[in-house]
Amino acid sequence: MAQNLQGLQKFFSDWKNPSRSIETVIFPSAIHLSTALSLAESKAVFLGGQDCSSEKSGAFTGEISALSLKEMGAAFCLIGHSEKRERAGETSETLKKKLDQAMAAGLTAVFCIGEKEVERANGKTKEILANQLSVLEGRELDRIIVAYEPVWAIGTGKIPSLTDVEEAHGQIWKRYPKLKAVLYGGSVKPENAKNLSSAAGVSGFLVGGASLTTTDFLKIAESML
Ligand code: PGA
Repeated sequence: MAQNLQGLQKFFSDWKNPSRSIETVIFPSAIHLSTALSLAESKAVFLGGQDCSSEKSGAFTGEISALSLKEMGAAFCLIGHSEKRERAGETSETLKKKLDQAMAAGLTAVFCIGEKEVERANGKTKEILANQLSVLEGRELDRIIVAYEPVWAIGTGKIPSLTDVEEAHGQIWKRYPKLKAVLYGGSVKPENAKNLSSAAGVSGFLVGGASLTTTDFLKIAESML
């Protein structure tokens, strides 16, 4: 979520713990982590960072280390969101270093992968996902969550067919059966969450736009129950 302070306060004032146990995590902007931590007190929700530095410490002005995220109360960290891959030109080498840092700091990494529209159109989805997944080779998989987010589905209102979701999730689970979870992300809304949750291999969701409204976020979370 990319909330301003007011939005974050409203998000938490509307919060109601889900009826049954379900793991929810919110990823506020890093400057709001400390506020989010106090607002989240006694609520069944974890916090995560949207990104972390590929370096442990040093002269890297503007970057936020995984250790600082941990100190500020984060338990999770997104790595390789398509917006970061695209805007910051993150390579597999950078992502490996980010994963190293996140995991060394004791964070659970949420590693995002997904194909672009043209890659899907050219029948390259499997190959792209396989390449992106190589970054996880040899890692402690029970502390990693993969989020499958087709780039063309993020913020567009378009979603893949259940067969396509199952195919991608099947590929991920087959290669790394010990992952903590595999999430689907990209235009998840309260209206389509139940259906998407029925796809084989979907353990939960990574939600962007719909997470800005607490009731929508919670409806989506509860669709997994
Ligand atoms: P969306 O965003 O749910 O708005 O498509 C997903 C994301 O940014 O990861």
